[in-house]
Amino acid sequence: MAQPAQTVAAVVVLAAGQGTRMRSRTPKVLHALGGRSMLGHVLAAAQPLGAGATVVVVGSGRDQVEAHLADVAPHARTVVQEQQNGSGHAAALALDTLTGLSGAVLIVNGDAPLLRASTIAALVEAHHGAGDVLTVLTADVPDPTGLGRIVRDGTGQVTAIVEERDAGPEQRRITEVNAGVYVGDGAAVRAALARVGAANDQGEQYLTDVLGLLVGDGAQVGGHRAEDAEDTLGCNDRRELAARRRTLNDRVLDELMRSGVTVVDPATTWVDVTVEVGQDAVLHPGVQLLGATVVAAGAEVGPDSTLTDTEVGEGARVVRAHAELAVVGPEVSVGPFAYLRPGTRLARGAKVGTFVETKNAQVGEGSKIPHLSYVGDATIGEGTNIGAATVFVNYDGVAKHHTTIGSHARTGADNMFVAPVTVGDGAYTAAGSVITSDVPPGAMGVARATQRNVAGWVGRRRPGTAAAAAAEAATGRTSDDAQGTQS
Ligand code: UD1
Ligand code: CA
Repeated sequence: MAQPAQTVAAVVVLAAGQGTRMRSRTPKVLHALGGRSMLGHVLAAAQPLGAGATVVVVGSGRDQVEAHLADVAPHARTVVQEQQNGSGHAAALALDTLTGLSGAVLIVNGDAPLLRASTIAALVEAHHGAGDVLTVLTADVPDPTGLGRIVRDGTGQVTAIVEERDAGPEQRRITEVNAGVYVGDGAAVRAALARVGAANDQGEQYLTDVLGLLVGDGAQVGGHRAEDAEDTLGCNDRRELAARRRTLNDRVLDELMRSGVTVVDPATTWVDVTVEVGQDAVLHPGVQLLGATVVAAGAEVGPDSTLTDTEVGEGARVVRAHAELAVVGPEVSVGPFAYLRPGTRLARGAKVGTFVETKNAQVGEGSKIPHLSYVGDATIGEGTNIGAATVFVNYDGVAKHHTTIGSHARTGADNMFVAPVTVGDGAYTAAGSVITSDVPPGAMGVARATQRNVAGWVGRRRPGTAAAAAAEAATGRTSDDAQGTQS
């Protein structure tokens, strides 16, 4: 039965290879760029096809890959390739588990992180449109080194894919290459894979040989050139990883700028593909927006800020900050030099200033923590001001405890709130207080030693010093006049 255009019955991702050239303990397809693993990018690009089955062939670093898939693509099923006998062997193992399915199958290398859904859709459409048995995605590239070459006959028909190491000098001059993305009739490809040998330079079963075998059978195969050759670029070592990351980032920033976001310095701004940024937001130099971060319209971030899974509200300003799993409300001001840790929620118009760290802290509308403070496990009401150099003492060495500060409170500088403790609405606390018991609404909490002055101490104990001379000049008394102790 013919598949409707744009669809396939199954997606097969080849991800069992070791990726020797990465020189890594992490399997190649798990290396990350732009907020996803390579494998994650490939699966995301295939997702819109809505295939009934997604099969990932795993082998090298299998446990790691399976754990990752459970996390990012729980719908995907894995097939284990115990020995990496080649891409053809891997594809055969996957297709052998799909015998109940009829129709087209997308087979794709797991190391193609720039592949876009639109490119896959165009390939699938070309495949169905032409009525091919197998259609391979190709690209014309300036430097085809290391890639499989697309061999076409005099009429332009694709007749074979030849790996570089098996290609003669003539074939090596071909600049049209195999992208490692194929759409084929599942049954036909499965049958052809069973005939693929390993008589090549690597002694491996090449998926690419299927094309020549089908041509030999007189079947119709096609080569679909990708609209953007960049989409087809693989990723085999760390230099390519850096280059692909840069390309991906450029794409994300281009899209943001097109949608009305100001990116002051694209060279130092890194935004994951999973991030959303609203219109008229401004990203200053040295900004990284990662994961599920959302920056609302008109907000300004940077310079030099890293936000992970963080929400920034409309018109907020975040300067030189590091934030993770935090919610920064509209019109909030953060930084410079602030650290917002998970569970931080800053309501509209709040302020977290310089050298302030927050964790699991709810800060009400318009409340301010301007300077040098640690706010952990806290609820702060509206319109409250926390004095400079305040520590929310949340940890007793065993367990964490909560501090509640009411609305419109004014807490003094250099306070310690020893949790669990509550300061009521409209209460004040005195500077330098160690607050260990609740302060009722409207009260002034004072918790510090009473000051005493030892009169004339400098003149007696530090005679002849600049301090003594200054004191003498100020008081008109010499050290000899200094008498006893006053308090
Ligand atoms: C492959 C293609 C080449 C193409 C290039 C595009 C073959 C024989 N060659 O070459 O024509 O130009 O991709 O980037 O397919 N894999 C397995 N099991 C194996 C071997 C490989 O699952 O036993 C997987 C790898 O994890 C990888 C993919 O298949 O995702 C391709 O393997 P790789 O070794 O990267 O092939 P290339 O040499 O890049
Ligand atoms: Ca590759």
